[in-house]
Amino acid sequence: MLYQFWPLAASAAFAGVTSANPTQFLHFIENIDVGGLKHRDTSETPEAFSPPSYPSPWMNPHAIGWESAYAQAKAFVAQMTLMEKVNLTTGVGWQGEQCVGQVGAVPRLGLTSMCMQDSPVGVRLTDFASVFPSGQTAAATFDRRLLYLRGYAMGQEHRGKGVTVQLGPVAGPLGRAPEGGRNWEGFAPDPVLTGVGIAETIKGIQDAGVVACAKHFIGNEQEHFRQPGDVQGYGYIEAVSSNIDDKTMHELYLWPFADAVRAGVGSVMCSYNQVNNSYACQNSKMLNNLLKGELGFQGFVMSDWQAQHSGVSSALAGLDMSMPGDTVFNSGISYWGANLTLSVINGTLPEWRIDDMAMRIMAAFFKVGNKIGSQVPINFDSWTLDTYGPVHYAAGAGQQQINQHVDVRGNHAKLIREVAAKGTVLLKNTNGALPLKNPKSLVVIGEDAGANPDGANGCGDRGCDKGTLGMAWGSGTANFPYLITPDAALQLKAAQDGSAYQSVLANNRLDAVSSLVSQDSVTAIVFVNADSGEGYINVDGNEGDRTNLTLWYDGDALIKKVSSLCPNTIVVIHSTGPVLVDEWYANPNVTAILWAGVPGQESGNAIVDVLYGAVNPAARTPFTWGQDRESYGTDVMYEPNGRYPQQEFAEGVFIDYRHFDKMNVDPIYEFGYGLSYSTFSYSNLRVVKAYPRPYKPTQGYTDKAPTIGAANVSTNLKDYLFPSASFSNIWQYIYPYLSTASSGKAASGDGHYGLPSHSYLPPHATDGAAQPYLAAADRVAPGGNAALYDVLYTVTADITNTGSVVGDEVPQLYVSLGGPDDPPVVLRGFDRLHGLAPGQRTTFRATLTRRDLSNWDTASQNWVISDHPKTVFVGSSSRKLHLQAALA
Ligand SMILES: *[C@@H]1O[C@H](CO)[C@@H](O)[C@H](O)[C@H]1NC(C)=O
Ligand SMILES: *[C@@H]1O[C@H](CO)[C@@H](O)[C@H](O)[C@H]1NC(C)=O
Ligand SMILES: *[C@@H]1O[C@H](CO)[C@@H](O)[C@H](O)[C@H]1NC(C)=O
Ligand SMILES: *[C@@H]1O[C@H](CO)[C@@H](O)[C@H](O)[C@H]1NC(C)=O
Ligand SMILES: *[C@@H]1O[C@H](CO)[C@@H](O)[C@H](O)[C@H]1NC(C)=O
Ligand SMILES: *[C@@H]1O[C@H](CO)[C@@H](O)[C@H](O)[C@H]1NC(C)=O
Ligand SMILES: *[C@@H]1O[C@H](CO)[C@@H](O)[C@H](O)[C@H]1NC(C)=O
Repeated sequence: MLYQFWPLAASAAFAGVTSANPTQFLHFIENIDVGGLKHRDTSETPEAFSPPSYPSPWMNPHAIGWESAYAQAKAFVAQMTLMEKVNLTTGVGWQGEQCVGQVGAVPRLGLTSMCMQDSPVGVRLTDFASVFPSGQTAAATFDRRLLYLRGYAMGQEHRGKGVTVQLGPVAGPLGRAPEGGRNWEGFAPDPVLTGVGIAETIKGIQDAGVVACAKHFIGNEQEHFRQPGDVQGYGYIEAVSSNIDDKTMHELYLWPFADAVRAGVGSVMCSYNQVNNSYACQNSKMLNNLLKGELGFQGFVMSDWQAQHSGVSSALAGLDMSMPGDTVFNSGISYWGANLTLSVINGTLPEWRIDDMAMRIMAAFFKVGNKIGSQVPINFDSWTLDTYGPVHYAAGAGQQQINQHVDVRGNHAKLIREVAAKGTVLLKNTNGALPLKNPKSLVVIGEDAGANPDGANGCGDRGCDKGTLGMAWGSGTANFPYLITPDAALQLKAAQDGSAYQSVLANNRLDAVSSLVSQDSVTAIVFVNADSGEGYINVDGNEGDRTNLTLWYDGDALIKKVSSLCPNTIVVIHSTGPVLVDEWYANPNVTAILWAGVPGQESGNAIVDVLYGAVNPAARTPFTWGQDRESYGTDVMYEPNGRYPQQEFAEGVFIDYRHFDKMNVDPIYEFGYGLSYSTFSYSNLRVVKAYPRPYKPTQGYTDKAPTIGAANVSTNLKDYLFPSASFSNIWQYIYPYLSTASSGKAASGDGHYGLPSHSYLPPHATDGAAQPYLAAADRVAPGGNAALYDVLYTVTADITNTGSVVGDEVPQLYVSLGGPDDPPVVLRGFDRLHGLAPGQRTTFRATLTRRDLSNWDTASQNWVISDHPKTVFVGSSSRKLHLQAALA
């Protein structure tokens, strides 16, 4: 496609709008000096193109689960002035207030400023809050109840600190590349497991009275080049474009977001990257068409921090909240704020759109149980732990008590320990090595067993890999209230048991290690790790994404040394994804291997529980462990392939186990694999067909865009000036007010103000007329056509504990959709069956919905069940498919 409209990160108001008339847009770009940032030169022909989709869908008053929230929001928004609405939509600027992001308040109506705060593992940048196991570790539990309880506990802690929106959970990255820096923040490279993980977490967070934020939408699969900027040797480059075809989008990356929307998520964060060469926060195909149109998302879309690259165009493309509000951190200027006020006054942005933005934000606020005037006051400060300081950190203004050091942890330590232990995967266990029973002499080896010499929080945003890996790095972190190291917990246990105990907490003391583990009757436990994180921190040459899949700091050499001398070597891996174990996993002296994920503050206690059998492991690996890096078939792009880096998702839906299965490559440990101290048998597969209503494409039209309250937008710029000369204007703070009434251009301060004129608006962008429903959407149910979730089959199987100890088991249901382009099997259901006694038999039950058996049909733009014969499997992993039956 020759005429792709290239987003301009500079000033043009319509930059990045996907265009129906590309020639016109190209003309516009070529004729405008965009102040340093150049549009793509025509010699570099873009491949992927994102089609325009306008207008931006407005809220549906009848959306299931949102009816009351809608009514409350409408009553509130109807009273709001334009500038109050703008205040709600625009952050006050980086470090303008106490949370990582805050929007303006509405003092006249008693609404205090909403607080957006990281992270998906706990309340970031504060004290006396918990650090939970990572999403990936929680996913390994395959336990819906624990996923929900973890969300609920995190929500309670955020609420206790005064947070309105918790910035999590994560389904993007999904985990396309095993090296992906932030994969640990999400759940798994399988859309069904991630869908369950994100939905249960959202329900938990929101039941606790906090709005959840499903992020990062979408295609944010690597850290390298996720944002535009200078790259050595390349100059200024745009953010990487994730070029994803429609089928892959639906069957893989969008799938868990559908579950999030169906779970009633209040907000979605659009990501830094581009999708088909249009920035995710102004991609109308993604935001208007897929998220709000097809999935019927009723909450609000907020930008990732500095992921917004345009003003009016992002609003028309479906963005509802600008975070943190300034164009770049601490610039003091905004694409929105005064610009958004002006764009409504000058008629460029329709009033119904700003109303809808405010409605979506207020509806999410009310949906989780908030009432005006009863928000928990923000009682912490993200920028310092000092008790007193400036409430407006960037400006250094407003000295007062900013940290009340409220302890919000409750009794969550118990749950954290349980999730971490039940998320620990037993990969190998021979010679009855585990569980440990009063070992005579325990030797613990490796830096990963010990403490960070600088303290558990010694590295900002955990941006280092020192001591045990309790959390990876980036904004998806929180400060440890304490971190129980494996060394501390194991030593205590050993002392209680009368075991001898020694530890060497360094990877390079091979001589000391050798003499210790060569002694008789030694049980050696080697702790190793591999870390990753967010791209703004480089740890040991890893710019977020891992540069390799090997263990860090010579972990392999350490394991090989110990296992060459000690016939009972147990390996514990803390990591953010798979690592290569090929050099030592098969050594018979390596008697046990555990993956303990990224476990959070109770790390040591949790691993003791598993090693000694207080928790009988049942966790399953939420990703595949390949023989080598190449076997994954997907990787991070480490060098940009041009000034407009193009990442082709050419593998389609074939990531992780789907790729290994398709290529018929044996992994070392397959997705869904994990051992127990007991054994289980699978028998008696039964498939019962249901006869739900037939699937019908949704038809008809939405209501027209509503008028919320009295239309009352004055066109007199004087009505929008700062309230009074005495108004104390905080430095670098983003306001909805105009600083001058002399002209729109002067108030905007944008040299290109007025250009482009209305003729450049994408077709239908301002059309408030009733719009046709999409076939795959639903008239009232969030998550897409409700009939997609109708049950077509119920599958049951008998699971029997054939071992000698009580244990949980995780039966998994896979389906072969049967087509030549389908993966051999895809996960469609699972359950964690609790506490089966030896000899006890229980029934595993899972359902198959219409969505579970469908493919996305690009022609009809709908889900279709193909004629290919389908098979259902029940097994204990993606390759141990013990039972199977044809779906009749
Ligand atoms: C990206 O381009 C592909 C290939 O043309 C298309 O199938 C898909 O719908 C596009 N997605 C977006 C978000 O523009
Ligand atoms: C907008 O928010 C700011 C910061 O909270 C507040 O000072 C101002 O009064 C608000 N303006 C309006 C119109 O509500
Ligand atoms: C309005 O947006 C433009 C960029 O489009 C920016 O240059 C200008 O400073 C903004 N105005 C305000 C008041 O933030
Ligand atoms: C309206 O205001 C917006 C925001 O300042 C600006 O980008 C746009 O160019 C203006 N349009 C017209 C037609 O004046
Ligand atoms: C892989 O990266 C880690 C962390 O930077 C490093 O410690 C290790 O030596 C690397 N492995 C190889 C084989 O280079
Ligand atoms: C296993 O340990 C013994 C010492 O007990 C050693 O002699 C032997 O070489 C080791 N085997 C391997 C394969 O490393
Ligand atoms: C209309 O807006 C003006 C200026 O913002 C305000 O003074 C007036 O009270 C408003 N009228 C109504 C009916 O809301």
